[in-house]
Amino acid sequence: MDAKIIATRPFDGQRPGTSGLRKKVKVFRQPGYLENFVQAIFDTRADLKGGVLVLGGDGRYYNRHAIQIILRMAAANGMSKVLVGQGGILSTPAASCVIRKYRTQGGIILSASHNPGGPDADFGIKFNTPNGGPAPETVTEAIYARTGELDSYRTLEAADLDLDRLGEVKLGAMTVAIIDPVADYADLMESLFDFTAMRRLFDSGAFKMRFDAMHAVTGPYAIEILENRIGAMPGTVMNGKPLEDFGKGHPDPNLAHAKELVAMTKGADGLDFAAASDGDGDRNMILGKDCFVTPSDSLAILAANAHLIPGYQDGIAGIARSMPTSQAADRVAEALGITCFETPTGWKFFGNLLDAGRITLCGEESFGTGSDHVREKDGLWAVLFWINLLAARKQPVARIVREHWHGFGRNYYTRHDYEAMDAQAAGDLMDYVRRLLPGLPGTKLGDYRVEYADDFAYTDPIDGSRSGGQGLRIGLEGGSRIIYRLSGTGTQGATLRVYLESFEPDATRHNWETQAAMRPLILVARELAQIETRTGRTQPDVIT
Ligand code: G1P
Ligand code: ZN
Repeated sequence: MDAKIIATRPFDGQRPGTSGLRKKVKVFRQPGYLENFVQAIFDTRADLKGGVLVLGGDGRYYNRHAIQIILRMAAANGMSKVLVGQGGILSTPAASCVIRKYRTQGGIILSASHNPGGPDADFGIKFNTPNGGPAPETVTEAIYARTGELDSYRTLEAADLDLDRLGEVKLGAMTVAIIDPVADYADLMESLFDFTAMRRLFDSGAFKMRFDAMHAVTGPYAIEILENRIGAMPGTVMNGKPLEDFGKGHPDPNLAHAKELVAMTKGADGLDFAAASDGDGDRNMILGKDCFVTPSDSLAILAANAHLIPGYQDGIAGIARSMPTSQAADRVAEALGITCFETPTGWKFFGNLLDAGRITLCGEESFGTGSDHVREKDGLWAVLFWINLLAARKQPVARIVREHWHGFGRNYYTRHDYEAMDAQAAGDLMDYVRRLLPGLPGTKLGDYRVEYADDFAYTDPIDGSRSGGQGLRIGLEGGSRIIYRLSGTGTQGATLRVYLESFEPDATRHNWETQAAMRPLILVARELAQIETRTGRTQPDVIT
């Protein structure tokens, strides 16, 4: 089988965002569009030639088709082997695990994460480097630059492969290994957590839990680990079958999209523990009976309790959180005498710190939590960490959270998203606030005195690379903050995210009603950015 060189044209706008290239399926379907991006990956990653690549995705519409295209191109570009998850499935953290375990030259992950799937919905592709993590900006920029130059791509003329049969087959000179997408990942989880203690918790019969896979990729993983290996009751995993359109749902585990699950935790008969993950399995939502654990609190609580978990019993080296994530983890780091790094939004900024051994745990407010076991955030890992913690502390979720607040104070936290905004209006709003920043320190916003205000920039402590324009950050007296940032993952117009945090040191003054407790700060943030007058929006579309 000879490689065919097919003429193409460069495509504009193939700049990968926070998590790779994400577009509508119909954009990806344009002749040459996916091919252009994939060829740019092969052209810029010299070691892929003769090397091994991992390939899989979240099972959404177009996943299988894209895999066939990429396999033919990989063969034509001289790869020696591609490891493909059976059925084209690999959760994002499992792909990271496989890349690391088999020391491959990287991986291609097909996913639009939590965005809806289907012919009219979203698709995405990203390249992960040999450390198992999302490519850093230098790499994504090189790929992007190449997408604008290409005039041809290489492929083979060959029939589609059977992606469902385990084992090795040849495609031209290249080997395609269809691997069990779950086993390596499940083994890794078993090496980190105390499955025996967790099994006892389930065996007690007094612990009721559900995991909602939202018809996305984590179903097979959760069934194998929770039900088969740990012994949770069959049916513990809900919506466990991956579907191409996620059952028409929105596979984003948050209070807005996992309503059914949230309802199951309410009242006397409510579940003791409930959790969910997103389209590609890297996000997590944690719920206890009548209790929602914010991702920011979850990171802080996991850090404070890590010594109770076998994989982390020797302590943690450091913590990192994305800038908009609440400062709850900073307080834990301070108590433990370790560093808490503040990085820009996006998992890729944790990679160097993890590789250098500077941090063990990291997380984002956007329902992402993880550790040095892989180089992606990991939804099921966070869920297992929590179950292991519940088994070790023998206390309900709400009790653990409350005790944490008593010890460290409470960082009230909420994020307000304004979606599908006019991109111009959103950009103007950000420019307006940016211009206000220098004049803010020392002034008062409502009852809050401004301590600092800046356009967040980050210098990577390992490689010295600098990333600017990462969100407008306003620090208020007493540890409260307001942050404005435009999303880098949306596929429709612009999404404005307003992140709000207010610190309450006195644990006795806790109010479970976050929105009510944070009302004054919310109003200040709306007014400062003139959100209503500039955008016509009186309410955010999504509150988490
Ligand atoms: C969002 C989240 C961010 C996360 C990313 C990928 O990006 O805010 O924390 O890393 O998805 O899951 P955004 O749309 O805000 O750019
Ligand atoms: Zn995701």
